[in-house]
Amino acid sequence: MLPWSNSSATPLSRLLSFIVTLFSFLPHISWASEWIDYSPGGYATMTHYSLPENFIAACGCTSTSTNYPTAAMNQMAYGSSTSYGPACGQCFNLTLLNSFLSNPPFYPNVTKSVVVKVTDLCPLSLSGWCNATTHGPNAGGHYLNFDLAWPSSSIPNDFFPSDEPLYGHTDFGVWNISYQSVSCTNWEGWNHVAALGSVANLGYSACCPDDPAASTNDTCPSYSDNNGIPPDTQTSGFVISPSNSLLPIITLAVSLLSHML
Ligand SMILES: *[C@@H]1O[C@H](CO)[C@@H](O)[C@H](O)[C@H]1NC(C)=O
Ligand SMILES: *[C@@H]1O[C@H](CO)[C@@H](O)[C@H](O)[C@H]1NC(C)=O
Ligand SMILES: *[C@@H]1O[C@H](CO)[C@@H](O)[C@H](O)[C@H]1NC(C)=O
Ligand SMILES: *[C@@H]1O[C@H](CO)[C@@H](O)[C@H](O)[C@H]1NC(C)=O
Ligand SMILES: *[C@@H]1O[C@H](CO)[C@@H](O)[C@H](O)[C@H]1NC(C)=O
Repeated sequence: MLPWSNSSATPLSRLLSFIVTLFSFLPHISWASEWIDYSPGGYATMTHYSLPENFIAACGCTSTSTNYPTAAMNQMAYGSSTSYGPACGQCFNLTLLNSFLSNPPFYPNVTKSVVVKVTDLCPLSLSGWCNATTHGPNAGGHYLNFDLAWPSSSIPNDFFPSDEPLYGHTDFGVWNISYQSVSCTNWEGWNHVAALGSVANLGYSACCPDDPAASTNDTCPSYSDNNGIPPDTQTSGFVISPSNSLLPIITLAVSLLSHML
């Protein structure tokens, strides 16, 4: 028998446990609005990942966009736990500053920058570089992580500076960078019509503005907020679908019912 269905429980204790249960669900409900609000320029971390050319990533930007520099952004700054979010289509000038996981840190003697278009989501995870939330930054001390699609035919293979004789490798993996929100007219894909916009047959599950910085009207909404899908606070790779997003609500209803008995 459940303790709270005990006939000796007073109405007051039932009410109290009801309230406690209700509050225990609030963190799940309020997650939806806890997106990271970032300024148009600042510091961030940069990692890189393999995005096959012609792949259609989370925003639903055209496959041709992969022929130009693109990046995924960490979930809580991207603004959705699945599909598109406000970051989709935004362009940023990213400048490499230093590696900091290496010992000693590496400060390149050249300044390397790349203008990327955000086309993908880097899922929130408990650790890793896309784990920043409004409650704290990632291990580099930053709230933004740009996961650069690299190698890419549009970015030189020697884009990341290195000192192989000193470190014994050329890939530092994680960089401290500065970022600046820029107009997408600066993006290499800008003059290539096929690289702009979203995949037509994805309809309302794609959102990839040509140049969202130019007009706030062109900013994508949060897919997960709009569809009641909470941000995925689990580990990377697990995507909450609309059907199982109802689970917390059903659990809440069942829990409330059991308290009413
Ligand atoms: C990107 O940043 C670098 C380094 O600050 C700068 O030289 C370059 O002009 C910038 N590019 C754009 C398009 O803002
Ligand atoms: C992200 O992970 C790092 C460890 O990799 C940890 O130090 C940091 O506190 C985590 N940030 C958040 C917001 O959980
Ligand atoms: C990143 O660069 C900024 C500016 O140079 C610096 O203040 C900060 O300490 C650097 N962070 C790391 C983790 O290296
Ligand atoms: C820059 O540093 C690299 C190694 O980190 C070195 O091979 C190269 O000669 C340096 N270039 C200049 C202009 O100092
Ligand atoms: C945004 O849309 C509204 C309503 O359609 C319009 O009045 C406004 O001028 C637009 N703003 C920009 C910057 O395009």
